[in-house]
Amino acid sequence: MSMISHKPPPPCAIVIFGANGDLTKRLIIPALYNLARTGLLPGRLALIGVDHNKKTSEEWAGQIKDFLGTVLAKNNEEIDNGLWEQVSRSMTFLSGDFEKPETYSQLKDLLAELDQSQGLGGNVLFYMAVADRFFPTIAGKLGEAGLMKDDKGFRRLIVEKPFGHDLASAKSLNACLLKYLKEEQIYRIDHFLGKETVQNIMALRFANGLFEPIWNRDRIDHVQITVAESIGVETRGKFYEATGALRDMIPNHLFQLVAMVAMEPPVSFQAEDIRAKKAEMFRAIQPLALTDVVRGQYDAGMVQGEQVPAYRREPNVAPDSNIETYAAMRLKIDNWRWAGVPFYLRTGKRLNIRSSEIAIRFKQAPYALFRDTPVDELDADWLILRIQPDEGIRLRFNAKRPGPAMMLESVSMRFNYKDYFQQAPAVGYETLIYDCLIGDATLFQRADQVEAAWGLVEPVLQGWQNTNPRHFPNYAAGSEGPIAANDLLAKDGRSWRAIRILGGK
Ligand SMILES: NC(=O)c1ccc[n+]([C@@H]2O[C@H](COP(=O)([O-])OP(=O)(O)OC[C@H]3O[C@@H](n4cnc5c(N)ncnc54)[C@H](OP(=O)(O)O)[C@@H]3O)[C@@H](O)[C@H]2O)c1
Repeated sequence: MSMISHKPPPPCAIVIFGANGDLTKRLIIPALYNLARTGLLPGRLALIGVDHNKKTSEEWAGQIKDFLGTVLAKNNEEIDNGLWEQVSRSMTFLSGDFEKPETYSQLKDLLAELDQSQGLGGNVLFYMAVADRFFPTIAGKLGEAGLMKDDKGFRRLIVEKPFGHDLASAKSLNACLLKYLKEEQIYRIDHFLGKETVQNIMALRFANGLFEPIWNRDRIDHVQITVAESIGVETRGKFYEATGALRDMIPNHLFQLVAMVAMEPPVSFQAEDIRAKKAEMFRAIQPLALTDVVRGQYDAGMVQGEQVPAYRREPNVAPDSNIETYAAMRLKIDNWRWAGVPFYLRTGKRLNIRSSEIAIRFKQAPYALFRDTPVDELDADWLILRIQPDEGIRLRFNAKRPGPAMMLESVSMRFNYKDYFQQAPAVGYETLIYDCLIGDATLFQRADQVEAAWGLVEPVLQGWQNTNPRHFPNYAAGSEGPIAANDLLAKDGRSWRAIRILGGK
């Protein structure tokens, strides 16, 4: 992470498989452009795009530039031609099929030629911006062509999500990658970890003397993690029918947030120290029972004033689909820090608003002093880490209302990122790509973490597959999810925080 280094990475080639794809155009190229803006692109760079369409390098660069223009226009920005020149002069397009060995022999020749002419030190970062069915093929063919040998410079491979769709497929993908690559060459991306606010959890916990002493079962009652989306499945019905909310969100994004909150302090910010602590935390999570989880599917409803259809009416979705668009669960982490402190997770589509947050609820103070005041109406203290959209931190606590009587009220102290920091425009992939270029794997998942996460949800996936959900659809679009999710907390005498934008108070 940038905590360790903030200088331009060494000269290198970046090879993007899927050069005409959506991810490349919408996120990877804008991220490289933004890195150029902050002076964090390698001074000597070759950017090679591989895809099966036929086009020249100039045509590729021209199309990518047009697309970049539309991405920047969303922020009322125009392309800075000087910056674009830095990126575009390095661009070479290689037309080829991922499945054919000749693509890799041509790539090898091209890399050797560019390495020689540009002085790239043999360094190459390969980015698989392609559908997951190609991951084993591309990794295998790169290995067979000798392109992953890192005897002259570094050779690294970025693997996009999804990393498997269950435990067996994740294990098989790991085995396939590790046949040709060493673990330290593999960068399994989870774009949630590219978010500043997620990285800030470590700064909050470990750079302040204030929080860590109370970050445990003595002071914390429970933790709620919410990733709510107001959009539906849009054009991704086919993908979603094979995936569902649990697979799509929980083993990767939400478990990563759990790891950031729950891991023990590492001895350093070196990737291996942090990853070891995360792996330890995953081992302490207790196996999930079906009574610890709730699934839901959205019905028609109103989202932000707009009437929207039920999931079963979305394009490419079966009219009797049993796929979940909402999942909630209770996790128990059985270690000294967290025993008895449940972590409640929920994620869903077509909820009332888009909102992601981690809410930490502290234990009630003993109210002996306030015996004669209406304190039962009071909330306990909360620390809320807002991930999106209004990034920041809130601390809710009780204060005396002005006046002669001792009346208490819950108030909020707010820190908003945008009030303090001028943030450089970012699409969220900048840190991740930069970290790969400097060889910092802190924000990337190791093989054992990915397998541990899939292992935890595996009994649920199997249980859900074997039993048809009753009462689907079970929540209206525009609501906060199914009633059963409330019952999950009510059983423990708790309730979810309202899903809302944290405005004024
Ligand atoms: N898009 C996003 O916002 C996003 C966000 C996060 C993660 N991801 C992940 O990123 C990866 C890429 O997603 P994407 O949406 O960019 O996919 P995509 O749009 O389908 O891009 C893949 C590219 O590869 C090309 N291609 C397909 N088969 C090929 C072959 N055999 N040989 C050579 N080229 C071939 C495709 O061409 P055709 O179009 O002609 O088939 C397309 O240009 C996926 O793993 C996805 O899960 C995407």
